[in-house]
Amino acid sequence: MKEAIKVQGLNYTYPDGTRALKNVNMEVFPGEKVGVVGPNGAGKTTLFLHLNGTIKNPDGNISIFGKDISSLQTGERIHNVGVVFQDPDDQLFMPTIFDDVAFGPINMGLQEDEVRQRVKTALALVGLEGFEDRVPHNLSYGQKKRAAIAAVLSMEPRIIILDEPTANLDPKSRAELIRLLKRLNRDGITTIIATHDVNSLPELADRIYIINQEIVAEGPPRDIFSDWELLKENDLEAPDVFKLFKVLTCFGYDCEELPLSLDEAVAELTKTISDAEGHVHLHIHEHTHSQVQKYLHNYNHHQTSDEDPNETASNYNKL
Ligand SMILES: Nc1ncnc2c1ncn2[C@@H]1O[C@H](COP(=O)(O)OP(=O)(O)OP(=O)(O)O)[C@@H](O)[C@H]1O
Ligand SMILES: [Mg+2]
Repeated sequence: MKEAIKVQGLNYTYPDGTRALKNVNMEVFPGEKVGVVGPNGAGKTTLFLHLNGTIKNPDGNISIFGKDISSLQTGERIHNVGVVFQDPDDQLFMPTIFDDVAFGPINMGLQEDEVRQRVKTALALVGLEGFEDRVPHNLSYGQKKRAAIAAVLSMEPRIIILDEPTANLDPKSRAELIRLLKRLNRDGITTIIATHDVNSLPELADRIYIINQEIVAEGPPRDIFSDWELLKENDLEAPDVFKLFKVLTCFGYDCEELPLSLDEAVAELTKTISDAEGHVHLHIHEHTHSQVQKYLHNYNHHQTSDEDPNETASNYNKL
């Protein structure tokens, strides 16, 4: 199968000499949902700037559905790849929300009726019905973010790339956005998401790339989150549910695969309890607390890296 996106040996250094990407290799197959994670300054946005053609003449090879990105006309490129940028102010520049969301479809040469229909559908998908005449500048941050997503959805691209889509969204909007992205992916759209929101990753990614200038790891979320040393080296974290179940194993909870999300946790608990005829057996033995401390130390490395975990806990108790 032709890769939806193939990046080979990509390097990039900004004009001021800042090295952002080093020999990046990545393959995303049609219909996949892929997460790109890495600390601040790891090069995620720089990579995406290459994928929407903002950074031209790449030092390396980038192909979209088998075609060299440099050979694609703008119309063909935006029909294939839509990138929603981290800062919606970079994306919204027209006098009204209608104009911003219609901009792509108009540039694709669509008829007026079709453009209107696409704007209506895209705004409805992000919950911004009735916002057509609003001035983008006057919207709240979360509303701008949703408008920027609509401006990409209206082009109906085959691949959607989102840079920090859930940042600054309220819990309801965040949940709705996650649902929308899952639905788009189920409908066959390839989705690539960069995020620091690790709790959303198990739902939004079947496969994760860790980037830190170069690609340092790739694999399914469970493998990536199980490797706490990898997470620590790259200033990353595991989802809260995963950490909680890791701690539960110290109390004797037995499970083959640690759940990564609340849904998985419910399924796991239901199975364990029904297998054990309505009971979960937990216990505390002589090593339980030292094991718990060890896991907390490993998985909460941001809080405890310079401190003795026992001391940190007792300091909290004094507050
Ligand atoms: N216009 C620019 N000029 C010079 N250096 C830049 C520019 N934009 C980004 N950089 C640098 O390039 C590196 C990669 O930045 P990038 O924005 O791609 O990281 P990121 O992974 O998206 O980070 P974040 O998680 O904070 O969004 C950083 O060291 C950053 O300081
Ligand atoms: Mg970024």
